Amino acid sequence: MSNEINKNILTLAIETSCDETSVAVMKNGREVLSNIVASQIEQHQKYGGVVPEVASRKHLENINQVIERALSEANLSFESISHVAVTYGPGLVGALLVGLSAAKAISFARQIPLTGVNHIEGHIYANFIEHKELEPPFICLIVSGGHTHLVYMKNYGEYEVLGKTRDDAAGEVFDKIGRALGLNYPGGPEIDKLSKKGNKEAIRFPKAYLESGSYDFSFSGLKSSVLNYLNREKMKGRKIRIEDVAASFQQSVIEILVEKTITCAIEKKVKLIVLAGGVAANSGLRELMGEECSKHGLELIYPSRKLCTDNAAMIGCVGYYNYIVNKNSNLFLNAKSNLKFENM
Ligand code: KG4
Ligand code: ZN
Repeated sequence: MSNEINKNILTLAIETSCDETSVAVMKNGREVLSNIVASQIEQHQKYGGVVPEVASRKHLENINQVIERALSEANLSFESISHVAVTYGPGLVGALLVGLSAAKAISFARQIPLTGVNHIEGHIYANFIEHKELEPPFICLIVSGGHTHLVYMKNYGEYEVLGKTRDDAAGEVFDKIGRALGLNYPGGPEIDKLSKKGNKEAIRFPKAYLESGSYDFSFSGLKSSVLNYLNREKMKGRKIRIEDVAASFQQSVIEILVEKTITCAIEKKVKLIVLAGGVAANSGLRELMGEECSKHGLELIYPSRKLCTDNAAMIGCVGYYNYIVNKNSNLFLNAKSNLKFENM
């Protein structure tokens, strides 16, 4: 081990909240030495969604190998690690417990600090990894399979949650509509691809604005409207152009996400918009948000696709910032499936 490495803080980060077993080694929070993601998508595809029990078992099978691969890719051993960061919620409780138990075991055996990380905060921090110059304040739209949050990040660890979904998360609605269209799980990336071949104005699906001034979201009306459209067309024996349904549905989702985010940035007088979470990989969302940001003189950034979806590097990044201000956890840290992301 070189002296250079010795001076640095090396974080081993573990993420097992849903269907990816991921372990990363981060140097000083923002430099990725390794970021291994073992996806379980194939195991869940035949059920059309994540089966919690299958997810826990797969994490258990994978975790030790993924830890070893992350260390070996970073060219390091356990002895060099300064601290362990782990997702402790929100997520599937059985899945979270696998990562948490591994993290506690390493922390205890090596006598190094342990930091519990909120998965949603992790998604925001994925942006700090690739954009070295990025600093708060900014408005962040977090759109994933389980969450849809509009957040004003004022400083590191300081947040004002301005809006949330009142029903389905954006990614969840992509996956449900994907299933109704007969696409593979997860539906988000498939709908994104199909939309490029479809006409986004072919069908007018509704958008829910909710009461005036609200930054909350609601996607259940849109979801029902797409499902009703598909049933109606089938009953009438009409041919459905799934590319057009995909494109029109996607357009409704992204228009509402973009409109509320831009309005919020203007109201808060914040010049920078940041995207995060699996749905931030969506080409339509990136494009429309980019166009609207240029129109309003706002700057837009988002992570590369690999860092939009679940990964441990983003968890290590939050963990590092907590560690340097001594916001550590102890070995009683427990998994919290419904851990909230609130004003802090
Ligand atoms: O952040 P993530 O990996 O997991 C959660 O924390 O939930 O997000 C997964 C979600 C899935 O719902 C998936 O369909 C969606 O992100 N997703 C996309 C795209 N890529 C992933 N949705 C729309 N367009 C995409 N390109
Ligand atoms: Zn996630």
